[in-house]
Amino acid sequence: MGLFWHSCILLAIFLQVAIAASVPEQVHLAFHGDTSEMAVIWTTFYDGLHHVYYGTDVKNMNQVAIETSIKKWTSGSVTRYSHRAKMSNLKPSTTYYYKIEGRVFEFKTLSANPQSYRVCIFGDLGYEHGNSTDAIIRNGLNGQFDFIIHVGDIAYDLHTDDGRRGDAYMRRFEPLFSAIPYMVIAGNHENDGKNFSNFQERFWMPHNGFNDNHFYSFDLGPVHWVGLSSEFYGYDREYGKESIWTQYNWLNTDLKAAVSKRKSVPWIITYQHRPIYCSIDYNHDCSEFENTFLRSGALGLPGLEPSYIQSHVDLNFCGHQHAYERFYPVADRKYYTGKDVYHNAPAPTYILTGSAGCHTPAAKFSSEPLDWSAFRLVRVISFRKVNSSYYLEATIMAIPCCTSLMLHIFTCSSSLLISMKNRPMISGSAKIQITWMQP
Ligand SMILES: *[C@@H]1O[C@H](CO)[C@@H](O)[C@H](O)[C@H]1NC(C)=O
Ligand SMILES: *[C@@H]1O[C@H](CO)[C@@H](O)[C@H](O)[C@H]1NC(C)=O
Ligand SMILES: *[C@@H]1O[C@H](CO)[C@@H](O)[C@H](O)[C@H]1NC(C)=O
Repeated sequence: MGLFWHSCILLAIFLQVAIAASVPEQVHLAFHGDTSEMAVIWTTFYDGLHHVYYGTDVKNMNQVAIETSIKKWTSGSVTRYSHRAKMSNLKPSTTYYYKIEGRVFEFKTLSANPQSYRVCIFGDLGYEHGNSTDAIIRNGLNGQFDFIIHVGDIAYDLHTDDGRRGDAYMRRFEPLFSAIPYMVIAGNHENDGKNFSNFQERFWMPHNGFNDNHFYSFDLGPVHWVGLSSEFYGYDREYGKESIWTQYNWLNTDLKAAVSKRKSVPWIITYQHRPIYCSIDYNHDCSEFENTFLRSGALGLPGLEPSYIQSHVDLNFCGHQHAYERFYPVADRKYYTGKDVYHNAPAPTYILTGSAGCHTPAAKFSSEPLDWSAFRLVRVISFRKVNSSYYLEATIMAIPCCTSLMLHIFTCSSSLLISMKNRPMISGSAKIQITWMQP
């Protein structure tokens, strides 16, 4: 009797586990450089090849994406399998359905060469204290933006509790990330002591020739987007200095190619986790060796700013400090102010957007901001439409620690915040509008 009872319970538990674990989960999308393609990545806790069936008719998903890789990896005691496939031959401005092991998702492609779109950019978002999580999901599902760039520090941390924190975060966001691309770059919190393995295995960014997610670029309409690792600088002693050179050489080649086609792709926007400029109180990353190393290089190793200046990078986004700070155009600490300074700006504009939902209290700004600091905000915020062409950058509300930027990219009409027109490198005009996500 006792034995029988035990067997029944064991069997029941086994079945339940088997069912729970047999579902592909944490499904998310990423751009892979060509708008006719969409990468899809998911996780399972068991081995087995899946294919992705997709199509424009939910009742007839007649295209198939063969899984390109399935990788077994471990974080502490937990073994996971990361799956990757690429949906291709996608038609522009079309709703697609896709199915993985019976689970159905959908997304809409952008137009063929989209000249207007919106992106939500933030850094430093936790699973716990994820203050802007609900707003990001709600606004994203309402069509307020077309994709996301998360500039590092994801979930706090992806690897916590043998990676269960990362699983929880990716499950929470699956409704959104399965519908719009989620582009990421590593922050210091992605260092899991195993050379960023959780970050490498869970995501799949555009191909860079080195089989990793640390740096990459993609064109989307009028913008050449470049994601870079500041963590090669932060962890050079642990993982070697070679990666700094690898990235630097790749970056210069990539930017040279981007500059040569600037007439059709006028904007160059880069992002990395740590700031090139910031004015936070008592902070290594803003004023000490750590900043010099990343910005201008040190000890015979190259920094990032000279390449940004040389290629006339227009905008740079970062996180790491839990605040929002926008700068006037600046090159090697020489800055430009004045009316219309963001029109045909003579140097890159840096924007810190690191307060999506941090695990530590908001950063404290230094009482003496850098001379080229244009706007600082710790407590945020929303944007307010004043009239048809004018947005107030921010209206302060009593919500601590939760900002996500929305960037609206156009190539038409007059300027608002950042614009260019008839610059030697471009024909016509282009404009980027920066607003805040509705909390
Ligand atoms: C926002 O984050 C702070 C700091 O972690 C936390 O105290 C607060 O409860 C959070 N608020 C919400 C609405 O999640
Ligand atoms: C860490 O990963 C980088 C990028 O994937 C690689 O180039 C480097 O050799 C690795 N370093 C170690 C010590 O494993
Ligand atoms: C919109 O508001 C701004 C700021 O008050 C003002 O400068 C601008 O002239 C207004 N534009 C229109 C079209 O009303």
